[in-house]
Amino acid sequence: MASSTASSSFSKAVLSFACVLVLIGASTSAQLSLDYYSRSCPVLFPTVRLIVGAAIAREARMGASLLRLFFHDCFVNGCDGSLLLDDTPTFTGEKNAAPNVNSVRGFEVVDQVKSAVEGVCPGIVSCADLLAIIARDSVVILGGPWWPVKLGRRDARSASQAAANESIPRPTSDLNELISSFRNVGLNIRDLVALAGGHTIGLSRCTNFRDRVYNETDIDVLLAQTRKFGCPGIDGVNDDNLAPLDFQTPITFDHSYYSNLVQRRGLLHSDQQLFNGGPTDSFVRLYSRSPLAFQGDFVASITRMGDIKPLTGSNGEIRRNCRRVN
Ligand code: HEM
Ligand SMILES: *[C@@H]1O[C@H](CO)[C@@H](O)[C@H](O)[C@H]1NC(C)=O
Ligand SMILES: *[C@@H]1O[C@H](CO)[C@@H](O)[C@H](O)[C@H]1NC(C)=O
Repeated sequence: MASSTASSSFSKAVLSFACVLVLIGASTSAQLSLDYYSRSCPVLFPTVRLIVGAAIAREARMGASLLRLFFHDCFVNGCDGSLLLDDTPTFTGEKNAAPNVNSVRGFEVVDQVKSAVEGVCPGIVSCADLLAIIARDSVVILGGPWWPVKLGRRDARSASQAAANESIPRPTSDLNELISSFRNVGLNIRDLVALAGGHTIGLSRCTNFRDRVYNETDIDVLLAQTRKFGCPGIDGVNDDNLAPLDFQTPITFDHSYYSNLVQRRGLLHSDQQLFNGGPTDSFVRLYSRSPLAFQGDFVASITRMGDIKPLTGSNGEIRRNCRRVN
């Protein structure tokens, strides 16, 4: 009798201690965790890695396109896979929003990853989480840092074109607009500079850098001249012609984006705004000198970006097909 009372108050103590731990976990990590699928889908990471590796082997730029998908998902009502929903006659999603239309790409690769993962662990892994893992693998494959990816996000049942129009920063933005669009999702100026380092890979369309190379003065003459070839100074002419965001090494995830900025070789107006006499200059200088400082801060900041407003618990769903709600 005495021993059973003792053991029941002991288990109550254990239970309340466990509750405290759960509460601490919930409040500090937005309920995401590193081992979320370790039992339910132990082959998740190698499965994703295989498909992403094959896609980047076919086309190196795909790594850049896939990293960008995670950014454009997270900035619009959180990392909830909303970007991946296709428009239908009765539903308008985010794919045709101004920052995305004719620009974001890589959805077929996401589909391939999703079907491979559904093949090994059906109904378990969200599309929102797949975007986070795909982004990490893309960075690693192109020579950037590895980081542990926090998981446990669920998928949205809706999307918002209006929010995508508003929340994703524009290439014409000045520094104060960039700072406020990052602040709106809980990210600071150091996060802004570190995450903009995503532009160490990938391409931009002429329409997004035309005004800069023809009309701006805080630009290296050689870069401006080089980019005018293939990007005529007339709106609507060859708008979709492509040029690398990183003048030097567009398929290597290195820190040369920042030395470009110091040399006034940012391709987009928004890139050069980060090194233009303002409060972000010191971070640009730091990352231009130190690849390790850049890598460490990029990892910290992309982890914080991945924490933006995840759907957890009974919110959202685990989509079977990333392009439509269940
Ligand atoms: C700071 C605000 C940002 C602005 C204004 C911006 C804007 C742009 C623009 C205009 C393009 C070219 C799109 C096109 O011409 O079709 C682009 C491409 C790209 N962006 Fe950003 N971006 C920003 C931040 C980021 C962040 C935080 C990341 C990821 C961490 C990122 C990753 C990329 C990548 C990888 C590409 C190349 C995509 C490809 O080649 O398919 N960007 N961005
Ligand atoms: C988003 O922007 C596009 C292009 O400017 C526009 O056509 C569309 O109506 C906007 N959507 C919403 C919901 O504001
Ligand atoms: C350069 O600026 C002028 C004046 O704002 C504008 O009319 C012209 O279209 C711009 N040129 C390009 C190539 O953007």
